[in-house]
Amino acid sequence: MCGIFAVVNDKTNNAAQTVLTGLKKLEYRGYDSWGIAIKPGRSTEAVDRLQVEKHIGKIGEAKTNLPKGKIAIGHTRWATHGGVTDENAHPHLDCHQQIAVIHNGIVENYLEFKEELIKKTHKFSSETDTEVIAHLIEEKMRPSVIPSEERSDESRNLEKAVFETFNSLVGSNAIGVIDFESETIIACRNGSPLVVGVDEKNHQFFLGSDVPAFLKHTNRVHFLDDGEAVVITKQGVKLFNVKSGQEKKLILQQLDWQLEDAEKGGFPHFLLKEIMEQKETIAKIASINEKEILEIANLIRQGFRTVLIGCGTASYCALAGKYFFANTGFESQTYGAYEFLPFSQFANNKTLIIAISQSGETADTLIAVRAAKKQGAKIVAVVNSRGSTLERLADIVLSVGAGPEIAVVSTKAFTAQLVTLYLLAEATSNKYEPGKKKIKELSKALHNWLNKQLTNRLIDLAKELIDQEHIYLIGKHLNYPATLEFALKLKESSYIHAEPFAAGELKHGVITLIQKGTPCFVLASNDEVKGEILSSAAELKARGGRIIGIAPFNSYEFNEVIQTPDLGELTIFANIIVGQLLGYYLGVGRGADPDKPRNLAKSVTVK
Ligand code: F6R
Repeated sequence: MCGIFAVVNDKTNNAAQTVLTGLKKLEYRGYDSWGIAIKPGRSTEAVDRLQVEKHIGKIGEAKTNLPKGKIAIGHTRWATHGGVTDENAHPHLDCHQQIAVIHNGIVENYLEFKEELIKKTHKFSSETDTEVIAHLIEEKMRPSVIPSEERSDESRNLEKAVFETFNSLVGSNAIGVIDFESETIIACRNGSPLVVGVDEKNHQFFLGSDVPAFLKHTNRVHFLDDGEAVVITKQGVKLFNVKSGQEKKLILQQLDWQLEDAEKGGFPHFLLKEIMEQKETIAKIASINEKEILEIANLIRQGFRTVLIGCGTASYCALAGKYFFANTGFESQTYGAYEFLPFSQFANNKTLIIAISQSGETADTLIAVRAAKKQGAKIVAVVNSRGSTLERLADIVLSVGAGPEIAVVSTKAFTAQLVTLYLLAEATSNKYEPGKKKIKELSKALHNWLNKQLTNRLIDLAKELIDQEHIYLIGKHLNYPATLEFALKLKESSYIHAEPFAAGELKHGVITLIQKGTPCFVLASNDEVKGEILSSAAELKARGGRIIGIAPFNSYEFNEVIQTPDLGELTIFANIIVGQLLGYYLGVGRGADPDKPRNLAKSVTVK
């Protein structure tokens, strides 16, 4: 949550604009408000302090009014402490506008600090936890109790002040600090992501919460580990251990991400682009991770208890994975990671935790993983983003390779994770190669099916459903998690109340909700429960529901059908993609922002 971006030695001498452009790429992390702080360049008149601009709302087509300069920091916010106001937007300043701070995380002990600092006459202008960081640094650099003429050089040791301040914060945090006088940016990480980018050709240095923010400048990066800090000056980037203050060797890695991966590529929205990219991403997974998949399958066969965890979409992926494992004869358990703690006591060195996460930074997932790890469990990370905390915590990483997922609503990362779980389940019963073949067939079928005819049909359906406030969905067995995911896509993208049920639940109370004309989606496959799900559809129809089948067949229980390719248990991929597309078209039709739905952030790094 929240996006951090900074540049040093901006080659255009327009660092504020560079930061603004970078922040746009990070808006998926939060878009309540944004702000930039810059050290104005020498040509700017009478400047003895940092200049700051802040606004509420999305960045959109905003332009910055800040002066020219080569060094700046910026932030896009997802509010935690303090409402959505200009004052609460980051960066936050010290009393003399010499220090500005951007922050991702929560400072759990900020109130104690704030009281002390107020007693020491520091002036606060926001309700945020972040602002204490700027004043704490100021206090350590220029203690208010020491008259200015008595201050030693030591009292202006920026690194020391920032590191000490950071070490005193309780919680998961990442901060970026700009200092007017020394023209330095310092960033520290503990629990929230930070990556530094080095553009050697132009001698420019970048800091971001994620790589797409500066991918157009460089793909040479270092992902900061917890407990690491970087000090960025005109001369370059130095890496430190934030606890000991010791310098470490900075080793850059070159990513294979392309700029196009982080651009819309002619599509009106990232969401639509990413849905369509599944034609390629799904096939790609059949040719990666073989060694790791076979290793994990071996552990499962040896009797490791398999527990799948994740949040939101990733938890539905976990649930679908549980069915895949059951189909190959292996029992597994699933938990929403946020509900795992009471059960972590049962984890031991014969437990395999399969943690699923697009970002690898979801706080609840990381907490669950750490708890299980403490009990000796082996951790497998099924993750899309690169260099994430989850990846570092894991014993084995299954990197799903869907590429940057920019839209807040997860699509291609979900299907990439689901393919990975399918292949893993197949591998446990020695069917990895046939599994790969089936994934290739799936990809080919999606290629042919995901065409203009389908999208036109879904646009028409979206038009018909546009004013609905309630939609109900049912599915059984593998189509149950598919139904959960389908409904979540509708809710997130269009804000329509879409409620999914296991078909078996209907008769136990839920059927009261169905009235004449209520839209009811029935997700089905050509499987052993086809008859049962059609009976449930008939019961809904008998109560007046408008039954929309999502299935590879038509049937008289349906009022209409969106036909999907017949791919056995893999049919759920197509069934879910219908939900992704329908959610998108409904959202556009209802005036929602498909890439940045209200109240959400892509990476939920707070509890
Ligand atoms: C829904 C969605 C969220 C995430 C959830 C977990 O479209 O994106 O439900 O799946 O917040 O995020 P990750 O996968 O990053 O752990």
